[in-house]
Amino acid sequence: MSEVQWNEVESYIAGRIIGEDAALSGALDAVEAAGMPAISVAPPEGKLLHLLARMLGARRILEIGTLGGYSTIWLGRALPEDGRLISLEYEPRHAEVARANIERAGLSDRVEVRVGLALDLLPLVEADAGGPFDLVFIDADKASIPEYIRWSKLLTRRGSLIIVDNVVRGGRVTDSNSEDPSIVGTRAMFDLLAADPDLDSTAIQTVGSKGYDGMAFILVK
Ligand code: SAH
Ligand code: DHB
Ligand code: MG
Repeated sequence: MSEVQWNEVESYIAGRIIGEDAALSGALDAVEAAGMPAISVAPPEGKLLHLLARMLGARRILEIGTLGGYSTIWLGRALPEDGRLISLEYEPRHAEVARANIERAGLSDRVEVRVGLALDLLPLVEADAGGPFDLVFIDADKASIPEYIRWSKLLTRRGSLIIVDNVVRGGRVTDSNSEDPSIVGTRAMFDLLAADPDLDSTAIQTVGSKGYDGMAFILVK
């Protein structure tokens, strides 16, 4: 199996059933034009986030790590008109591109991008979210994943879903000797999940345009 084949199959799936439109592809174009990294979720993953949010009937969504708002648009489109999505982004330039993309997608009425370090913003999010989040998507710095999981527990309710991106990292997640803070953080997340009776979880491996990686899915019990 080659990466060429992963990409071919991803394009095939995207071409048949994903239904990406101008707002979504334009968001990726804007990310590229701004010289931002090509690390938005892949289209089939964005659609997965969208479908899961709809299946949950999510009305309140929290995202940690906005970049250009590609995943944000997929998630925002799952919300009802009076739904709300708060997305946290450290880089003002990323947030600016994201806001323009979200505006073009017609989602500015329900999606808000807040600028700052997520760990600084989360206490404020808690204060004015107006109720627990139904879904949290964690996709920022990987070293802080365990802290993001702890915050997510405080900000959700029984039955909420927490999704974590990039939990496989080309298979490097199994390297117990790694000193890479991303790997250390991701492994600490697995330890935390293994030990927490209030969380039930799985993780799946993914291949495609983002290489070999994975996502974790966590149910708040
Ligand atoms: N979810 C996006 C991709 C996010 S990439 C998508 O799929 O479309 C990760 C983003 O997290 C980057 O924009 C980076 O600037 C941001 N980030 C990194 N560390 C952060 C932190 N501590 N707080 C908030 N955002 C952070
Ligand atoms: C990186 C970050 C991501 O969120 C991702 O999906 C892929 C790569 C990174 O920082 O390298
Ligand atoms: Mg990611």
